[in-house]
Amino acid sequence: MKILVTGGSGFVGVNVCADLKKLNYKISSLDNLSRKGSKFNLKILKKLGIKNYNFDISNFERFRKLPKFDLIIDCCAEASVEISRYHLDRVINTNFIGTFNILKKAKKDNSKIIFISSSRVNSISSINDIIKKEKIPNKINIKKKINEKFPTSKPKSIYGLTKLASEMLIEEFAYAFNIKYLINRCGVISGPFQFGKQDQGFVSLWIWSHIMKKKLKYIGYGGYGNQIRDVLHIEDLTDLLKTQIKSFNKINNKLFTVGGSTKSYISLKKLTEICEKITKNKIKFTKNSKSSIYDIPYFITDNSKVSKTYKWKPKRNMLKIVEDTYKWMMINKKQLKKYL
Ligand SMILES: NC(=O)c1ccc[n+]([C@@H]2O[C@H](COP(=O)([O-])OP(=O)(O)OC[C@H]3O[C@@H](n4cnc5c(N)ncnc54)[C@H](O)[C@@H]3O)[C@@H](O)[C@H]2O)c1
Repeated sequence: MKILVTGGSGFVGVNVCADLKKLNYKISSLDNLSRKGSKFNLKILKKLGIKNYNFDISNFERFRKLPKFDLIIDCCAEASVEISRYHLDRVINTNFIGTFNILKKAKKDNSKIIFISSSRVNSISSINDIIKKEKIPNKINIKKKINEKFPTSKPKSIYGLTKLASEMLIEEFAYAFNIKYLINRCGVISGPFQFGKQDQGFVSLWIWSHIMKKKLKYIGYGGYGNQIRDVLHIEDLTDLLKTQIKSFNKINNKLFTVGGSTKSYISLKKLTEICEKITKNKIKFTKNSKSSIYDIPYFITDNSKVSKTYKWKPKRNMLKIVEDTYKWMMINKKQLKKYL
């Protein structure tokens, strides 16, 4: 099977490429290397003999000339929620026009699509409503989990909008042109090959800052670091994708919420404790109590549908995510200084 991974030099993309390559699929990548760190990951693709087509996904003239693929796995995005407020053209061109181009190419070649969507499609006000009466987010009843039916109609960030609009466009193409698809609406994902920064990839940023003894800031919700997220180990996601590819002909045209759920969730404050334990370093923290209009205090995924459909559930907990990322960072420390 010939597979194109868009954003193949990104964090999710490179892990997907490397894992699928082990199963002898013929893998190619499309990535313009715009994310800091993607040039590091490109070296991994090269070692694995995976070709990267280096151009902007919004350029359909280039895209349509690529060879035919049986499956396109879309891992290409401007993935920062905060950046989406300030770089509107880039976000809409990459995240929405990019999906449109994938769909046009898939229509031409009769390719299947797997789309990596985001939990940020959910309405911010509806997420805030979950914890309305709670003053301190870490006292939230974690049984309140978010599934495929959660409200998405109110503002969710421009980033979230581009992911929701992409999901809807995929469903329209499936309806009108018989494109076969799967959508995984993922919560936070983390693990090796992630180049975290202030506005995206906080777990990676936390570990690297502890290794390098750089100071960090708790931002939002009073600056206490009590925000909670579930975090999915990248290998749990690639395990799911392998199962989905194998059963694609039987199970398709479905949308799933996918996340670390109760197996793997954490507050920023607790993440600091784990990082201190693993790196044996303690760093300085400052506070910025003001929350961004796009911040959310809490997110725990309900995996019921995806678990029932594929008998899949996340196996790796938060400690394993930190340990695996720490090991990768320590082995590559010298090189990573250029990118992190
Ligand atoms: N990392 C997460 O926590 C998370 C959570 C939910 C969903 N997602 C989704 O998963 C996918 C992968 O995210 P990631 O964390 O690997 O992000 P990433 O930034 O590490 O990877 C994205 C890749 O796309 C490339 N790219 C960006 N704009 C491009 C363009 N215009 N043309 C061609 N290439 C371009 C970048 O160079 C980068 O290598 C994205 O669709 C993201 O929305 C990520």
